[in-house]
Amino acid sequence: MGKLLLSQGSVSILFSAIIVFLFTLALFLSGYVLQQRYVHSLQLAIKPRLPKPLPAQAPLQPPTLDIKWARPMGSRPDVEETVSQMIEAPTIDWSRLGYVQVVKDHSELCSAIMLLADLQEKRSPAKRILLFPKSWLKETSEEDWDPQMSTTRRLLRTAARRHGARLVPMETIKADADESLASSYSLTNIYSLTTYERLIYLHAPGVVLDASALDSLLAFSKSKPMSAIPATPERKELSTSLLLISPSSETYRQLRETRLSQPSTDLELLRHTFSAPDSLISELTLSMGNVVYESQSLREASDDFNVTSFNEMTTFVRLLEPDIPGPEYDIPYAERAKLRPQNDQAREAWENLYESFRQRRMEVCGLDLEYWVQAEAGVEL
Ligand SMILES: *[C@@H]1O[C@H](CO)[C@@H](O)[C@H](O)[C@H]1NC(C)=O
Repeated sequence: MGKLLLSQGSVSILFSAIIVFLFTLALFLSGYVLQQRYVHSLQLAIKPRLPKPLPAQAPLQPPTLDIKWARPMGSRPDVEETVSQMIEAPTIDWSRLGYVQVVKDHSELCSAIMLLADLQEKRSPAKRILLFPKSWLKETSEEDWDPQMSTTRRLLRTAARRHGARLVPMETIKADADESLASSYSLTNIYSLTTYERLIYLHAPGVVLDASALDSLLAFSKSKPMSAIPATPERKELSTSLLLISPSSETYRQLRETRLSQPSTDLELLRHTFSAPDSLISELTLSMGNVVYESQSLREASDDFNVTSFNEMTTFVRLLEPDIPGPEYDIPYAERAKLRPQNDQAREAWENLYESFRQRRMEVCGLDLEYWVQAEAGVEL
């Protein structure tokens, strides 16, 4: 009996032990679950935000070569270091890449040379090419000595000797066209430069702020007949502010034929031949900074415009304003005050651009600003 009682007692002890164990286990498990949840939410909270993956076909092969193109908002790399890294890259043949300017009229020559000089000063390893009317090479007799022509000859020599530009004379499109008219020549002459793999044309007048970003575009893009900057964010048409061109005699012939069959401006001809968006520079490339910025946009700058980040993010500024004939003209102070941006930081950027253009014009071409007469006054000197 005693034995049975004892075993009954040990059974009840065993039961209570099991119950205590089960409660402890339940308590432990619920605590564990709660703790895991807490840890998980903590992990979520401290986890770094992963960047969105880039679209599959990035146009820039190793984007780390130029920090600006990989991380547009980041710090500015040492330009020389970037360029020397690129020169050492074995696959890039810089003799087949270049910057081209097309000059159709005497008044355009200095601004075109200034852009080539900017690229040279910023140590771009690419070639520099200047296309100009062949008629400028004609011998002139002493009687019809022309001061404009002597300035032009001096500037062409400067372009070749001081700025290492290759001078390429161009013919008029139509054989019998007036050689002295700008409209007799065409941008499409760039396509005749078939010894080059890729060429970048920048619309003068303007200022190059960062040659290494343009060099990256030139070096790492695919060769296509045309990659242009879109005229508007809607990407419906190209603009001629920046053209990345792969020359070929086939495209050259096609463009000439189109132009001979119907008179048109270069912009009309290019828009007709190269459809958007196929012939536009990719949105990805354009999202990496201001590849081309038009100075008139500074007048619509937002309140948080920052001149430091503008200078870091911007590659090429085309100096273009609807109510100014060009930065080559001296605008009286009262007029300037009306035209310049209202925002303090944007105004600083704007005035820096125009002032550095004025100084460069004197340094590169030895020319002062031109006298400006407002359109309303009726006379243009
Ligand atoms: C502009 O941005 C730079 C850094 O990009 C910063 O150091 C500077 O304080 C900013 N200036 C203004 C006025 O916000």
